[in-house]
Amino acid sequence: MNFDLTSVRSEFPLLSRKVKGYPLTYLDSAASAQKPRAVIDAVSHFYEYSYAAVHRGIHTLSADATSEMERIRAQVASFINASSMEEIVFVKGTTEAINLVANSWGGSNLQPGDNIIITEMEHHANIIPWQMVAKRLGVEVRFIPLCFSGNLDLPRLMSLINKRTRLLAVTHISNVLGTINPVKQLISQAKSSGIMTLIDGAQAVMHTAVDVQDLNCDFYVFSGHKIYAPSGIGVLYGRKDVLSLMPPWQGGGAMISTVSLKDGSLYSESPWVFEAGSPNITAIIGLGAALTWVMGLGMNVIRHRETQLMRYALDQLSLVPDIVIYGSVQSCGIISFNLGKHHAFDVGSFLDQYGIAIRTGHHCAMPLMQYYQVSSMCRASFCLYNSEEEVDRLVTGLMRIHRLLV
Ligand SMILES: Cc1ncc(COP(=O)(O)O)c(C=O)c1O
Repeated sequence: MNFDLTSVRSEFPLLSRKVKGYPLTYLDSAASAQKPRAVIDAVSHFYEYSYAAVHRGIHTLSADATSEMERIRAQVASFINASSMEEIVFVKGTTEAINLVANSWGGSNLQPGDNIIITEMEHHANIIPWQMVAKRLGVEVRFIPLCFSGNLDLPRLMSLINKRTRLLAVTHISNVLGTINPVKQLISQAKSSGIMTLIDGAQAVMHTAVDVQDLNCDFYVFSGHKIYAPSGIGVLYGRKDVLSLMPPWQGGGAMISTVSLKDGSLYSESPWVFEAGSPNITAIIGLGAALTWVMGLGMNVIRHRETQLMRYALDQLSLVPDIVIYGSVQSCGIISFNLGKHHAFDVGSFLDQYGIAIRTGHHCAMPLMQYYQVSSMCRASFCLYNSEEEVDRLVTGLMRIHRLLV
């Protein structure tokens, strides 16, 4: 497969900077990915030549910006193989998408005594909105437990499901362990019991091709900033028949058809009914450019290259004395670890002195930390622009810390 790492890296201007006098080693793309020149240029070109508010304008700039936004909606639909652009709602990010579903779908479909199922490896974004709606409506939140291997204890799912189970909400790829969950199988199990499904794709879209029709999920959510687009934009995919029955969750401009103080108001249709207020048009332009750029490389090529790099990273990191690597050996894009008795914050700060950026802490996954009985972990995350040389720098940095220990 044709993948030219040097050429790919050269498209990311920020990767060539130095930090603390060392070449930057950016191993934090699971938090947010760096942006290629194509995205930076699309955003600045939009500001320089085409910027205007969308929807409400009759003038050329506004009309052009509106058609661009709707073109990108169709592009997103095609990127995840949704059956129509009306299944794509623009939101701020994964967090907002899940809150939208929890409030709109949850608020109108959940009854006291119902239950919903999540997992022990979820990001807080896929826990808290459900806990909030559950508390409000008297609903129980159940969870599929983790196994020490970093996989879900899948056989437990069937024992969690009963007649009052309404929704299964699962992460596609764990943001701590990199575990790729068998979401197609989980969705099929849920569907056979008439249960709705939401997949948190925040860590999946940049590493693997997503086909929502093949998955057969009801909702799929992701954030633009993790797939090389600007922050402040994300996507809620919802099956058309599901979205069309959901009430709006925020009111305001752009989501109405008529407003009357005397007679009340009528709303527009989905997906626009879920997009109250002025959208982040610049970030939408950047998202379109990012998806075009990713498609230009090809998801299969990206996946192949990243698998190769992950294998190397796991092999090399396993050589570091006293390292504890959490989770699955087939992890996608992410390796979480601790080093001896060193606190993750100390490891992260030490590596930063050498220009190496990793993430440390609970990674917005406190239940998972509790499962492994640690308060924090170090997380190195990798994507298409990372190199074997960067893995070596990380390993050398960790070896340095180890030598300080002994
Ligand atoms: C699996 C997962 N879900 C949800 C989120 C939240 O994404 P955002 O902060 O972009 O809304 C993240 C962010 O790291 C994540 O990794």
